[in-house]
Amino acid sequence: MATSSVPANQPAYTDTVVRWFAVAAVLYGIVGMLVGVIVASQLAWPELNLGIPFLSYGRLRPLHTNAVIFAFGGCVLFATSYHVVQRTCQTRLFMPGLALFTFLGWNLVILLAVVTLPLGLTSGKEYAELEWPIDLLIAVVWVAYAVVFFGTIGIRKVKHIYVANWFFGAFIIAVALLHIVNSAAIPVSLTKSYSAYAGVQDAMVQWWYGHNAVGFFLTAGFLGIMYYYIPKQAERPVYSYRLSIVHFWALIFTYMWAGPHHLHYTALPDWAQSIGMLFSLVLLAPSWGGMINGIMTLSGAWHKLRDDPILKFLIVSLSFYGMSTFEGPMMSIKTVNALSHYTDWTVGHVHSGALGWVGLVSIGALYFLIPRMLSRKTMYFSRAIELHFWVATIGIVLYIAAMWIAGVMQGLMWRAVNPDGTLVYSFVESVKATYPFYVIRVLGGLLYLGGMLIMGWNTVMTIRAGKVQPALIPAVAAHA
Ligand code: HEM
Ligand code: HEM
Repeated sequence: MATSSVPANQPAYTDTVVRWFAVAAVLYGIVGMLVGVIVASQLAWPELNLGIPFLSYGRLRPLHTNAVIFAFGGCVLFATSYHVVQRTCQTRLFMPGLALFTFLGWNLVILLAVVTLPLGLTSGKEYAELEWPIDLLIAVVWVAYAVVFFGTIGIRKVKHIYVANWFFGAFIIAVALLHIVNSAAIPVSLTKSYSAYAGVQDAMVQWWYGHNAVGFFLTAGFLGIMYYYIPKQAERPVYSYRLSIVHFWALIFTYMWAGPHHLHYTALPDWAQSIGMLFSLVLLAPSWGGMINGIMTLSGAWHKLRDDPILKFLIVSLSFYGMSTFEGPMMSIKTVNALSHYTDWTVGHVHSGALGWVGLVSIGALYFLIPRMLSRKTMYFSRAIELHFWVATIGIVLYIAAMWIAGVMQGLMWRAVNPDGTLVYSFVESVKATYPFYVIRVLGGLLYLGGMLIMGWNTVMTIRAGKVQPALIPAVAAHA
């Protein structure tokens, strides 16, 4: 791979950090999903933990969730937000050195997670498992990220702040708030702390965090991606700019209140559960408004979907977004939740959002970004992108269909009672009935992972064939 340096007098975008985050995302995607396939296999064949504590399900599961959400998803968000904010503000990154620090710091967080989680060092809070010293590091990196991102907006050369930046900005601010409040803890040693909250308050803070981790980490940031990369790839303007603004405010206002739907039928006061349910139902409207805005951006260019695999990734991700944001509000209705909660239906819902929405939109954006960061128009093997798309899509369908069927079956078996009030099925009978679906999930996961491996190989070939050349900032502040 040839390199060349930026001419001293020529302003160029700060793309090194974008390139690094993009390549790291591919690597962490492969690792995180590999751990996903391992835990899925352990659920079908428990002896696969080999009797080694570090490989036990309880330790690898948080490693999977942290790797896919924060390592893979996080690196995608860093790469795309740094890329988008520069292009839409027609300026280079504010404090490039600090941006580099965010890369090193975030990777250090990931390394520490890879060491501590298999050792069983965790705070026990889902999606916030890392212990307090790592939490402090995350807070420092995040503040640096905010300085770079908002600083870049501050030095922008165009008056307008493009809507994608609104979503990235909201994601950065909300995640800072969520992380700091939920991670408040009293340390008792370097590797152990106790939550600052107790009892039902602790549960409520945790699920206010957990739900908004979905709303802001797994949704708002990725909507920023949608608003930039779909118009770019389709070469069409956003369908409705006005709708995008309504979408933004409605979404960020509503998400904040929906957390209690994770605590139905618990010690949380009933009125709080009902508020969670109500806001979850309302959330359908902004979610679908955003999805429609993204999909309709293709108006007049639908034919492009036939031959352009990157657009396929981006648009199909939106249909999964629509599916999971229809399903979520339904599952938040108390009577439906009485059936779905504790079952694999929840896991099916999670992965229709995670594999279908977050995964596909990320992969589409990376396929757009990686060649451009290496002065190429396309990936080395552009036809392999099409193959990746189909393998991944079939994998998702197998995964989520298996979990939906398993989940509804489990819910119905657990509540079936004989006329005399005794249970029709023992718990173990429901586990036995679930077995074939766990095997199908492994197959779906293997396909999805296979797609990521194709991407990994394509990325390596693209890097080898590419050139690192500075992308110059246009002299005239044209609209990005
Ligand atoms: C090859 C792909 C993947 C496989 C095979 C896989 C497999 C699994 C398995 C077996 C679990 C544990 C389920 C349980 O406890 O019953 C799980 C949980 C989870 N995974 Fe994945 N996963 C994959 C990709 C992803 C991706 C890309 C994301 C996010 C972007 C993700 C997010 C999650 C989350 C949030 C949970 C926790 C779900 C919950 O608590 O209900 N996964 N995954
Ligand atoms: C309108 C949007 C959505 C609503 C109202 C919603 C609602 C829900 C509900 C009711 C549950 C089940 C809670 C339980 O019984 O424990 C749930 C679980 C979950 N959802 Fe969603 N959902 C939405 C969108 C999404 C999306 C797009 C994703 C992923 C990108 C996602 C990820 C998750 C995760 C990770 C969990 C499992 C949390 C856990 O127990 O560990 N959700 N959601």
